[in-house]
Amino acid sequence: MFSSYQEVQDRFDSQQYICNQETATVVYLASQMQRPLLVEGPAGVGKTDLAKVLASSQGLNLIRLQCYEGLDETKALYEWEYSKQILYTQILKDKIAETLQEVSTLSEAVERISTEEDAFFSERFLVARPLLKAILSDEITVLLIDEVDKSDPEFEAFLLEVLSDFQVSIPEIGTLKARQIPLVVLTSNNSRELSDALKRRCFYLYLDFPSTEQEAAILKKKVPGLDDRLLRQVAEALASMRKLDLKKPPSIGESLDWAKALVLLNADRLGPEIIRTTLPTLIKYPTDRERVLKDLGRILPREQEET
Ligand SMILES: Nc1ncnc2c1ncn2[C@@H]1O[C@H](COP(=O)(O)OP(=O)(O)O)[C@@H](O)[C@H]1O
Ligand SMILES: [Mg+2]
Repeated sequence: MFSSYQEVQDRFDSQQYICNQETATVVYLASQMQRPLLVEGPAGVGKTDLAKVLASSQGLNLIRLQCYEGLDETKALYEWEYSKQILYTQILKDKIAETLQEVSTLSEAVERISTEEDAFFSERFLVARPLLKAILSDEITVLLIDEVDKSDPEFEAFLLEVLSDFQVSIPEIGTLKARQIPLVVLTSNNSRELSDALKRRCFYLYLDFPSTEQEAAILKKKVPGLDDRLLRQVAEALASMRKLDLKKPPSIGESLDWAKALVLLNADRLGPEIIRTTLPTLIKYPTDRERVLKDLGRILPREQEET
């Protein structure tokens, strides 16, 4: 467990994740106070990675639930392993016949079998999905509920129940209570509003595109071989591009690709030609490409314009 927000920053830094004081503080508080952390923001700003790094920086297991439309309890919590149950009944055919030896009617047979049904509805035949895995884990885990805005509102309501008391009732088995409360990170790209009830349960972090300094720090950490002058030019160019009202502004993932491409092509400064050739790593819509090329003057480093 972290002892301060500075420790969060340091440990994240050693996992190559740069975070500012605000992010480090909310991460620290959420882990200390055992509250789920809801992280919202545009795609590619480090929401998923935050959860991964929260786990790796403390040597904890990461359990990930990827949300999508139609996701339900059987994929998120548990389901019975039907094929294994069938297999066992096949193998135990003789034993079952023995149990039914003296009964004469169908309803008697059903009655008799029902006294044995516990054998087939035990943990042995249960497939634990991510939420149950986190509840059953003996160790503290990081539970990442990724892109929760893609799930249906009904699923969100169910999730709220799980997050409120970290226990689940399985009718055939009983109530299973979390042995360790997991550190929960939910992420959302904001494709729909999440319920107030869910938000009340969570601490909230809005991750936006990074500041120029923060982006430069990320690039410096993750792209070896990028010299300091180019690094600064790249970070500033990215900031200018994000002001252009593009359909898909470059994310951090894309800016890392761009910087790596510039290193591979031995660029030492940003000029119109190198920007044009490397845009496919960065810009993913024809209209955005046009826009960037049209506004190159705003993106090129100032010293470039002077020369
Ligand atoms: N603050 C950061 N420090 C270092 N790398 C980062 C940071 N934020 C994002 N990244 C990198 O950017 C990429 C996209 O991040 P990701 O977590 O997948 O974004 P999101 O989940 O918000 O869409 C990943 O390669 C991640 O490592
Ligand atoms: Mg993500």
